[in-house]
Amino acid sequence: MKPLLSVNNLSVTYKGDSLALQELSFSMNKGEIIGIVGESGSGKSTLIRALLGLLPEGGRFTGGEISFQEKMLLRDSRLDWAGVRGKRIAMVFQDSGSYLNPIRSIGSQYIEAIRTHFTVSRKAAQTMAVNMLSDMGLHDPERIMRAYPSQLSGGMKQRTAIAMAVTMEPELLLADEPTSALDVTTQNEVMNRLSVLRSRQGTGMIIVTHNIAVAAHMADRIGVMWGGTLVEMEDTFRIISDPRHEYTRKLLSAVPELEGNVHGS
Ligand SMILES: Nc1ncnc2c1ncn2[C@@H]1O[C@H](COP(=O)(O)OP(=O)(O)OP(=O)(O)O)[C@@H](O)[C@H]1O
Ligand SMILES: [Mg+2]
Repeated sequence: MKPLLSVNNLSVTYKGDSLALQELSFSMNKGEIIGIVGESGSGKSTLIRALLGLLPEGGRFTGGEISFQEKMLLRDSRLDWAGVRGKRIAMVFQDSGSYLNPIRSIGSQYIEAIRTHFTVSRKAAQTMAVNMLSDMGLHDPERIMRAYPSQLSGGMKQRTAIAMAVTMEPELLLADEPTSALDVTTQNEVMNRLSVLRSRQGTGMIIVTHNIAVAAHMADRIGVMWGGTLVEMEDTFRIISDPRHEYTRKLLSAVPELEGNVHGS
C-alpha cells in the first residue's frame, strides 16, 4: 500500500536556536491512527504544525521532506500546501473551540465551511452539520446550530470544532491535545467517536496526547518523542508490552493497569 503520509529527515528550528525537530522520519498508511507522546518541549506541537506547513512565528524548516499521498508538500524548504490544508488535511488544537467566530451563530459558520468544500445546498449542509454534531455526542444539535459560541460551554465548543474538522472528510486529521481541556469522561467519549469515524470514513489520524492510556486505547502505533525526534515508533502492543526507551518505561509505569492489557478494555 502506498503511504498516506511520509516524512523524511524533517528538521525545524526556531530563530536559529537548537533544532526543535531533528531529522525526524516516519510514514503512515491510510486510515491508520498514530498516537504521539513525549515530555513537554519534546517537539510534538512543532511536528503537528510542521505537517500543516503552519510553523509559529520564528519557526523555519531547515531540511527534509514531507509528502502526502505521494504529493510533495515540502522539499528543501519549498512549501506547497495549497489545496490540501483544511480539507484533505484537517486539524484540531487543544483550544480549537475558542477560535469559533464569536459574532456568528455556529450554524452560519458551520454551513459556510461545509459549502466552501462541498457543492451542496444550505439545507443539505445543515443536515450534515447536525448529524456530525450528534455523532460527537452533542445532544440537541439544532439548538447548537442556532447558538453563538458564548452560549456554549468550553467542552461543547471544542466538540463543535472537532465536528467541523471531521465533516470535511479529511484523509488525515492532525490533532494536538484535542481533548486535554475536557473532563475525563468526555475525553474518552470524543476519542471513541474519533475511532468510529476512522472505521467509517477511513480517516488517518495523528493524535498528540500527554496521556499514554488514551494513545494505547485508540492508536495502531505509538510514537515517542524525545529531544525533537522519534525515539521509538511501534505497534501499540509492542510499545506497551516491551518499551525500549527509558522515557517510555517511565510513562508506562505511571499507568500500571495498562501493562499487558492494551486490548483488554
Ligand atoms: N514559537 C516558538 N518560538 C520559539 N521556540 C519555540 C516555539 N514553539 C516551541 N518552541 C521550542 O521548540 C521546542 C519544542 O516545543 P513544542 O511546543 O513543539 O513541544 P511540545 O512537545 O508540544 O510540548 P508540550 O507538551 O508542552 O506542548 C521547545 O524547546 C520549545 O521551547
Ligand atoms: Mg505542545
